[in-house]
Amino acid sequence: MLIEWCPEMSVGVDLLDEEHKKIISTLNDLNDAVVSNNVRLGLKKYLEEMIKCCEEHFIHEEALFLGVDYPGKERHIEEHRKTREYLLDARIKFERGELDNLSPKMMEFLKWWLLNHIQETDMRYVPYLHQPKT
Ligand SMILES: [Fe+2]
Ligand SMILES: [Fe+2]
Repeated sequence: MLIEWCPEMSVGVDLLDEEHKKIISTLNDLNDAVVSNNVRLGLKKYLEEMIKCCEEHFIHEEALFLGVDYPGKERHIEEHRKTREYLLDARIKFERGELDNLSPKMMEFLKWWLLNHIQETDMRYVPYLHQPKT
C-alpha cells in the first residue's frame, strides 16, 4: 500500500473525506497494477477510475468554494486543472500505446501530489467552509 487515509487528513465534510479515501484507494490500486503481471488491464481500469473520482471530487470541492470567501480558490482550482490535465495526458499516451506502464517517477509524482494536495492545499479551505460569504 502506497498511502493510507488518516483522521488528520479530514477536512470536516463527510462527502469530501469519503472522496479522498476513494482517491487514495484508487491510487493504491493503480500502484498495485503498475507492479502486477497484468499491467495493461490494471492500468486501463484504475487510470480510468482515478480520472473519474478526481473529476467528481474536484467538482464538489469547487462548488463549495463558490459559497465562501476562500481567498485561495483560484490557485486551488488551477491545481485541480493541472492534475486533470496530467491524468488525461497519461490516458491519451496509454491509449496510443506510448505508455506501457507508469514509471516510478509518475507514481512518485501522483503520490506526492495526492499527499501534498490533501494535506496542504485542501486544508487551507477548511477554516472558510463554515463561514458564510460576506
Ligand atoms: Fe480534495
Ligand atoms: Fe482540492
